[in-house]
Amino acid sequence: MQFPKLTPLQSRFAATLAATILLVILYYVLFTDLGSFAYALEIRPVDPKVADYPLLIEGRKAAHDDDGDDGTIPGKIAARDTPAPQALVNNQFKQSNINLGETQYWTFPKSAVTAPRSATPTGLPANVTATDPSSASGVVMNHELKKRENTVYISLNTCLGPSLNSTNVDPLSAAIPPLTVYISTSENNKAPGPGKSSDEQAEYIAEQGYMGASFSAESDVYVSVAAPNSTLFSGVYNYDLAASIDAYFHSVDDDTTNLYFVDSDTTSALLITDNVTQSSPDSPNYQQWMNITPPYTMFAHNINNSAIFGLERSYCALSLSAQIRPGNNAINTSMTSRGLGNKPKEQFKITYLNSSSTYYGILGMYGNSTASGIDVIGGGGKVWRAMNFTTKADSNCALLYNLDFCSQVAYAVPSNPSIDLTTLAHMYDSNAQSYYQNFTNSLSLIPCNTSSISMYSLAVGCPDCASAYKQWLCAVTIPRCYDYSSNFSFLQPRNAGQAFLNGTTLPADDPLVLSPVTNASRNPLIDSQIKPGPYKEILPCHDLCNDLVRTCPSALGFQCPTGQYLNDSYGYRASNGDITCSYLGAAYYLNSSPMKLAANFSFEIFLGFCVLWLASSLFY
Ligand SMILES: *[C@@H]1O[C@H](CO)[C@@H](O)[C@H](O)[C@H]1NC(C)=O
Ligand SMILES: *[C@@H]1O[C@H](CO)[C@@H](O)[C@H](O)[C@H]1NC(C)=O
Ligand SMILES: *[C@@H]1O[C@H](CO)[C@@H](O)[C@H](O)[C@H]1NC(C)=O
Ligand SMILES: *[C@@H]1O[C@H](CO)[C@@H](O)[C@H](O)[C@H]1NC(C)=O
Ligand SMILES: *[C@@H]1O[C@H](CO)[C@@H](O)[C@H](O)[C@H]1NC(C)=O
Ligand SMILES: *[C@@H]1O[C@H](CO)[C@@H](O)[C@H](O)[C@H]1NC(C)=O
Ligand SMILES: *[C@@H]1O[C@H](CO)[C@@H](O)[C@H](O)[C@H]1NC(C)=O
Ligand SMILES: *[C@@H]1O[C@H](CO)[C@@H](O)[C@H](O)[C@H]1NC(C)=O
Ligand SMILES: *[C@@H]1O[C@H](CO)[C@@H](O)[C@H](O)[C@H]1NC(C)=O
Ligand SMILES: *[C@@H]1O[C@H](CO)[C@@H](O)[C@H](O)[C@H]1NC(C)=O
Ligand SMILES: *[C@@H]1O[C@H](CO)[C@@H](O)[C@H](O)[C@H]1NC(C)=O
Ligand SMILES: *[C@@H]1O[C@H](CO)[C@@H](O)[C@H](O)[C@H]1NC(C)=O
Repeated sequence: MQFPKLTPLQSRFAATLAATILLVILYYVLFTDLGSFAYALEIRPVDPKVADYPLLIEGRKAAHDDDGDDGTIPGKIAARDTPAPQALVNNQFKQSNINLGETQYWTFPKSAVTAPRSATPTGLPANVTATDPSSASGVVMNHELKKRENTVYISLNTCLGPSLNSTNVDPLSAAIPPLTVYISTSENNKAPGPGKSSDEQAEYIAEQGYMGASFSAESDVYVSVAAPNSTLFSGVYNYDLAASIDAYFHSVDDDTTNLYFVDSDTTSALLITDNVTQSSPDSPNYQQWMNITPPYTMFAHNINNSAIFGLERSYCALSLSAQIRPGNNAINTSMTSRGLGNKPKEQFKITYLNSSSTYYGILGMYGNSTASGIDVIGGGGKVWRAMNFTTKADSNCALLYNLDFCSQVAYAVPSNPSIDLTTLAHMYDSNAQSYYQNFTNSLSLIPCNTSSISMYSLAVGCPDCASAYKQWLCAVTIPRCYDYSSNFSFLQPRNAGQAFLNGTTLPADDPLVLSPVTNASRNPLIDSQIKPGPYKEILPCHDLCNDLVRTCPSALGFQCPTGQYLNDSYGYRASNGDITCSYLGAAYYLNSSPMKLAANFSFEIFLGFCVLWLASSLFY
């Protein structure tokens, strides 16, 4: 009889239904017609419990002492293929060291497999999506309802790996070889492991430090963990293994990073998660999220440092070895509604970074977000796919966020290291606020709520104008700063007439010094009081100006510049989610949808470009 092969479903979340069915079929086949054949190979006593145990314990001890000689030599199988498996308990991870080449044996006993499932935990507030407003006050469990009885979830985190024992090898070219997990539900294969037929066991590779498998079972589950043989590495692995009938104890999300880079300076970076809900601000769900203890955490690690190389999907490894991790005081988390759509999300300000360095950023969840470890469903934590971000090279850009008035500002601004961040934030914020005060004074004189005043739309009024003005004002008076040393074409040099922080100046005949556009900043406050020296600006998006003209009464006389003035003053959005112009709430790789791009450019069809009233000479 021909057996279909059980393909290894390498390190995926769940075994497919097909694999599950195959295991069941295998179980019955081996137990019935091919039973005697299997016994011939395995030479297993009929009652394993009685006859095997003394031998098993010795075998396991021996395997620990002289590492890696678990026999594959056929003649020796009878005597020594019967290691003592250690029992796994539902939702209780087991930690173990394992030598290169060694195999360790575990079992999840039938009593645990068939036990009733644990009570479902509270879970986080509902993640309401745009198409899903009905559940706005509901509560969603953080693991989906189980499809069937007796689903078993096995998961593994590699916590520590062996080290390279050769200095001749580039550590970034040699990832730690992954552990392999073998699972059998067959009484005929109580010691799954390397070298056995894939008909008798399923094989899962712990890719980047993570392995997860789920399948249905009715009796004992046999699990083994094998460390590969390697001459390049030496030392031991350490891993956490867990079995559960409730949900994965450790989990990963490979589909999304769920983490967006907002901006950085030379030592810190700001990142946000995706919106946790699309609920409206007056809904209880929105309030629940805004008031929650931030549920996520994150890890950051220099891409040139090999400490987590090959273990990026292991919460355990990241929490032990990532350069920036919870507990080392470099991460400040909070909930915010800043950003596009003003929906709740979590933000991370991370510090102690090096300049001009690229880091992996990995979103994580500690346990189930409120509890972790033994007896917690999902207590082993979760990680998302890694993203990366780069810190700035020049120290005259400083990351500002959480301003009182320009509350949507969250990016690097021109600065001088001699000014502390709180003072800097206050200087920019109060400056913008004073311009705004003058604007509201003017606006109050205009009967802007009469529909005939609004030239482009009958659907806008004073509040829309005020909001568009504030957006534009904050983006223009608080410029988004970028390294002077960078040469991207969308960057506009500014303040070239001033000395660099190191005291050198550009030659007096430099075109940047001669042109009024590049010789000074838009906002005179910067050159006179902040004195950042020459810097480059990511220009505000031209649609900010267009929005202002469109929504404000023509009596205010707003116009956007035209021709060269337009290109000197405003930038254009990129289609790929890169930030090539400054808009409030910007984060990298967010707006890559083509629909959004069309909307952004459609304004051009209706509008000319204009110069501005109120400080038009300052801001072009
Ligand atoms: C490592 O090599 C030894 C000796 O060749 C072998 O017994 C053992 O099964 C190997 N281990 C793995 C995980 O392949
Ligand atoms: C996490 O687990 C603990 C203990 O099981 C439980 O009390 C808590 O409600 C869970 N938290 C969430 C967010 O599900
Ligand atoms: C690496 O370590 C192993 C023992 O774990 C040793 O046999 C081997 O010679 C070492 N290789 C080098 C290049 O040092
Ligand atoms: C909320 O659900 C949507 C759709 O299922 C998903 O794209 C998004 O990532 C989820 N957000 C979070 C924070 O889980
Ligand atoms: C880090 O890696 C990048 C790309 O691999 C390389 O260009 C850069 O020089 C490296 N930096 C250091 C400090 O090694
Ligand atoms: C996080 O940042 C906020 C605002 O910058 C500050 O008030 C708070 O003390 C910081 N928390 C920690 C733990 O550093
Ligand atoms: C959040 O939702 C808004 C729409 O409400 C969307 O524009 C934005 O891209 C989403 N994601 C983030 C991280 O802001
Ligand atoms: C910063 O650079 C120093 C020196 O190269 C290095 O020791 C340190 O680990 C780096 N820190 C981070 C967070 O990259
Ligand atoms: C950083 O992320 C970008 C965008 O996802 C990707 O194209 C690039 O290869 C990544 N760089 C590294 C060093 O992983
Ligand atoms: C606001 O208006 C007052 C009176 O016209 C003027 O003195 C002040 O400079 C203006 N403020 C700004 C920031 O333009
Ligand atoms: C505009 O606002 C003023 C004062 O708030 C009010 O008296 C007037 O009726 C409003 N006009 C329209 C057309 O709504
Ligand atoms: C001063 O800084 C500027 C910009 O960072 C750089 O181009 C220049 O070479 C530096 N001059 C000296 C003498 O280091």
